[in-house]
Amino acid sequence: MLLFGTQRILDNGHLEVGGCDAVELARAFGTPLYVVDEELLRTRMREYLAAFRGLYPKVAIAFAGKAFLCTAMARIVEQEGLNLDVASAGELHTALAAQFPAERISLHGNNKSIAEIELALDSGVGRIIVDNLLELERISAAAGARGVVPHLLIRCAPGIDPHTHRRIQTGQDDTKFGLNIRSGAAMEAIRKCQDDSALHFAGIHCHIGSQLMDASCHEQAIEIMCAFLHEIRESTGVEVEELNLGGGLGIRYLEEQNPVSVEEYARAIVTAVRGGLARYGLKEPMLGQEPGRSIAGQAGLTLYEIGAVKKVPISEAPGYRSYVNIDGGMSDNPRPQLYDAVYHAFVANRANEPADTSVRVAGKHCETDILIQETRIQAPETGDILAVQGTGAYNYAMASNYNRIPRPAVVLARDGSADLIVRRETLDDLIAQDIIPERLAKTPAGNTN
Ligand code: LLP
Repeated sequence: MLLFGTQRILDNGHLEVGGCDAVELARAFGTPLYVVDEELLRTRMREYLAAFRGLYPKVAIAFAGKAFLCTAMARIVEQEGLNLDVASAGELHTALAAQFPAERISLHGNNKSIAEIELALDSGVGRIIVDNLLELERISAAAGARGVVPHLLIRCAPGIDPHTHRRIQTGQDDTKFGLNIRSGAAMEAIRKCQDDSALHFAGIHCHIGSQLMDASCHEQAIEIMCAFLHEIRESTGVEVEELNLGGGLGIRYLEEQNPVSVEEYARAIVTAVRGGLARYGLKEPMLGQEPGRSIAGQAGLTLYEIGAVKKVPISEAPGYRSYVNIDGGMSDNPRPQLYDAVYHAFVANRANEPADTSVRVAGKHCETDILIQETRIQAPETGDILAVQGTGAYNYAMASNYNRIPRPAVVLARDGSADLIVRRETLDDLIAQDIIPERLAKTPAGNTN
């Protein structure tokens, strides 16, 4: 069984996380329920800081808020001394509402609206990562009007092919993200930025993909980025202040997956960066990292209640398949549908029994909504609590109201107590934004018009 962080199995067979009995959490807060192991979350943040700081003097580690953000999460990121990367006005608003220091926030996005740019400038975010030339013009106009000089990183497409699911590749040539290095688009943006007194060129950025099992693709990107740092110095005379390499380190979702540790990853990145800098005799820039999944992923799990367990005849042995129906699905975790993502699950109230029953875990949406195609769990019964591991990143963040299902609550478990950090949506929340125009109003009884 795959257990992470503070998780352990109690003598009564219940899963414990953050010192809390998961079965009691499900009873107290309802299901589906996202449970976050605060200690593991903080441990990962500290590991990142320690691993990079131990090897390279000038590092800035930002948590990628897209992986998991709510106001309490922003507070934890702030307390642990990480910066925060946001990718929309909504994420920025969340961070500001949690009093996250604006100068430690960087704004991403490949199509930032003028309103998003203005909010970023008015709140004084530390960095804006520029995706395209239109954006550069918009930032320049808005900054000029305000008399502020924002610090900009130019997002580069290094043109490499990361080995990960095609929907989470971002660093190749044929991508919507950033400005291509080979075509000269990135250099053009840098020159424009340098020539514009309303803007400060602070550095270059790339993010090549997500759920990468080692740093080999990053190493390729680093070579290209270091060559580009050299090219920038040659043609503009500027030694770039900051080199940000995005995020992307993967996590173990299943026992057989073996991503490198944060320490190994940091060592590989720093070695490659130092090698690249030495090759061209470049000064050490600030090294930026933006991990999301590798900080939040394993710190989260989802608890579901098992409903109907159905035996469906199939042609292969053993002649039937057990469908375990849960009370959530693609609205709280769309990743299997989008990326063929895989998950480890077990029965959280009888975790000490053998996982000897082959099942398919099905969501409750009105379509083929399979959360886990095939896994072995403890013989499931209606009313059992199913724990699905590794849902801390890109689950709550990507949740929807498909089928008008309220989004689950999020609780933060630590040292035996659990705090609600996102309350469960109610049925009334689902209709809170709905409007019935006058002409559709229900006519009083008896009026047949
Ligand atoms: N920085 C930038 C600019 C990014 O676009 C991303 C992720 C990150 C950092 C953080 O990457 P991480 O360390 O989490 O791999 N929804 C997909 C993942 C999309 C990632 C998008 N960008 C999933 O559920 O797998």
